[in-house]
Amino acid sequence: MPCILLTGATGYIASHMWLTAQEAGYDVIGVDSLVNSSPRVLDRLTTLSGREPVFVQGDVRDAAVMDRCFELARERFGGVQAMVHFAALKAVGESVERPLDYFDNNLGGLLSVCQAMQRHGVFNLVFSSSATVYGQPERLPITEDSPLSATNPYGQTKLIGEELLRGLERCDARWKIAYLRYFNPVGAHLSGLIGEDPRGIPNNLMPYVAQVAVGKRPHLNVFGNDYDTPDGTGVRDYIHVLDLAEGHVAALRYLADMNASLTVNLGTGQGYSVLELAQAYGDAADREIPVVFAPRRPGDVAACYADPALAESLMGWKARRGLKEMCVDSWRWQSTNPQGFEG
Ligand code: NAD
Ligand code: WQD
Repeated sequence: MPCILLTGATGYIASHMWLTAQEAGYDVIGVDSLVNSSPRVLDRLTTLSGREPVFVQGDVRDAAVMDRCFELARERFGGVQAMVHFAALKAVGESVERPLDYFDNNLGGLLSVCQAMQRHGVFNLVFSSSATVYGQPERLPITEDSPLSATNPYGQTKLIGEELLRGLERCDARWKIAYLRYFNPVGAHLSGLIGEDPRGIPNNLMPYVAQVAVGKRPHLNVFGNDYDTPDGTGVRDYIHVLDLAEGHVAALRYLADMNASLTVNLGTGQGYSVLELAQAYGDAADREIPVVFAPRRPGDVAACYADPALAESLMGWKARRGLKEMCVDSWRWQSTNPQGFEG
């Protein structure tokens, strides 16, 4: 079985990818510093997969940690076929307050990961990029050839990260890289045993709504109701985290089979407003989500949704799960784990 090495492995998206990849026939080894995730994720992965996760706790910027991962992969699985680099700090507001920490962690982490891959002769990489690289989109839906820009240090780390990797590919043809630009990942595993567990006050919409539904917060603040959208609130392309994980498996297959790089949006192509999402979540949880209209959040765009056609034509992948499933699955996780992994 081919083996993949996941960085940021106990995080929200990677933990779902871990299971999806195992189901698709990959052996998995994970590394995470636990700076933004809980070690209890590993117990849940054991329960769900029936296998003890092969895991290294450490920072990807530490070369010795990375070497340990490759050695362990060699001992246990005969080596690494490809790397999926999820590890990053991701809070936009925090990145404005601590830009150097974001540059250091996200760009330093990426360089260290690539150096380790080169040391160990592995050149297939899946990179967690983001729709944030489109900045303020000029045209909707967003195609991959749209202009790129960054509006905050977090976005810069994704834009510069992509640019560094493209430079690497130009200099050394052995590198094959999948640049996956995620839209808004939401939802949780069907078991309700793993899901998104933000620390402190959630920055993102669905985890915030989930905490309102479970009674941890009194109401949802809707940031702006005077946008040029059908109901005046922001429109986004929410994608189920399991669809996203399947997109990574498709990308791994593409790298291995086509021996070529690719850059694709991972979204559904369908935009929903803040009020539509709150309503759908309320329906899933069978309770009202009280909303309070608040000023626009600085830096937000009115609407952002993908043209997902390229991912389908190149990799044969498209998102299958709709808004209702995203809300039902998130609610199953939130309602059975109201305190997240630490509960
Ligand atoms: P997450 O915070 O849940 O997971 C990231 C994981 O990386 C965490 O477990 C954290 O502890 C770990 N980590 C961070 N820096 C590390 C380091 N230096 N060494 C080792 N581990 C480190 O976030 P997520 O939502 O699962 O995001 C995964 C990736 O997807 C990130 O690269 C993020 O930028 C990208 N992304 C996320 C979204 C989103 O809305 N969730 C959207 C687009 C792109
Ligand atoms: C969605 C909509 C808000 C919270 C962010 C990052 C992006 C990417 C995904 C990593 C907007 C509104 C939100 C709340 C609200 N991450 N909202 N009340 O901003 O599209 O994207 O996460 O790459 O880089 O910027 O997602 O979930 O924060 O917001 O009204 O309490 O919900 O204004 O319209 P966003 P989000």
